[in-house]
Amino acid sequence: MPLNSPWRADFPGILALDAEGQTYLDSAATSQKPQAMLDALLGYYMSGAANVHRAQHVPGERATWAFETTRSKIAQWLQVESPTQILFTRGTTEAINLLAYGLETQFHPGDEIVISALEHHANLLPWQQLAQRRGLHLRVLPLNAAGSIDLEQAAQLIGPRCRLLAISQLSNVLGRWQPLPELLAMARARGALSVVDGAQGAVHGRPAVPALDCDFYVFSAHKLYGPEGVGVLYGRDDALQRLQHWQFGGEMVQAADYHAATFRPAPLGFEAGTPPIAGVIGLGATLDYLTSLDPAAVAGHEAALHNKLLAGLAVRDGIRLLGEPQVALASFTVDGVHSADLAHLLSDQGIAVRTGHHCAMPLLKSLGLSGAVRVSLGLYNDSSDLDRFFSAFDRALELLR
Ligand SMILES: Cc1ncc(COP(=O)(O)O)c(C=O)c1O
Repeated sequence: MPLNSPWRADFPGILALDAEGQTYLDSAATSQKPQAMLDALLGYYMSGAANVHRAQHVPGERATWAFETTRSKIAQWLQVESPTQILFTRGTTEAINLLAYGLETQFHPGDEIVISALEHHANLLPWQQLAQRRGLHLRVLPLNAAGSIDLEQAAQLIGPRCRLLAISQLSNVLGRWQPLPELLAMARARGALSVVDGAQGAVHGRPAVPALDCDFYVFSAHKLYGPEGVGVLYGRDDALQRLQHWQFGGEMVQAADYHAATFRPAPLGFEAGTPPIAGVIGLGATLDYLTSLDPAAVAGHEAALHNKLLAGLAVRDGIRLLGEPQVALASFTVDGVHSADLAHLLSDQGIAVRTGHHCAMPLLKSLGLSGAVRVSLGLYNDSSDLDRFFSAFDRALELLR
């Protein structure tokens, strides 16, 4: 039975790619955008751009209102107490770098930071570099065969010197929800701070951040059908108070002299310089759009498509799936076939999938791989996209084998 997305027509980018003969199956890298977001971007620029928080003129007040309204919408979306707990960054990567610099003085030589073996470079390298700067130990939680963090080993590795746990909610390579409640409870029991990388998790179901009970939660707008250049960092009040300022410049300052200055608290104290105003307003429009959808219908459609993807891979010979993906994506290799060759032949046939190490080089290395192909789905994908993928895939394998 065909699985048609009732939302496909809301995404002009997907329709344009259709017209060009391109099948987009790389939404885990970045998503297409709804018309509502494009209208908001154009509307902001067409009605007169202005900087936020600075000017008392009408365009400035209008821009500030739209910008701050989005902060409130994000707080509602994440179901957290207050918009003051929401900081804008340029993306997940910048949010985690903010934390790695902002928390630096919380650590003493010999302290431990715990991550997992599946982390994206964005949630590995900032901590690795912090560990090098401060003489800390970086502990890496191993995975089980399905691709979940192994809880028994985690209980051993999250020890008394653990000061911070930073883990992904949903792996961008393995497509598995990680056992956050158990892991976060272990970190809490050690008095450690916790950071959840929601870059992938925030896209599939609404994250109930208070139920997670983490100190920080981060995601990127562009993966959640919003614009590029905007990231979100949620912090619990007491955790935000432990952050040191890290970027310095306009609007983050309370009072400045030539030789000294005092700084604003979060959120504005961590948003130095002109923020991505249009992008933030665009994210607000995306959230309005997403809020208007039936979450059960979206989840049902995504699950049905994902099942179709897994079933199609399962009936073909020589496919090695990475882990046991649960949602939205599947990464795999094919026996005797180089992933880059496969991706090349898929691309020649108008299929846009991702190949390579997926910014998780240590994970791929630990699986003995230099690369893998990843097919990832958005709410606008149809079963016809997967039909086109599988027929191109079969043709490519015929040529390569
Ligand atoms: C799990 C995960 N974390 C972090 C990132 C980094 O996101 P960004 O490039 O938007 O900063 C990504 C992007 O692919 C990701 O999948």
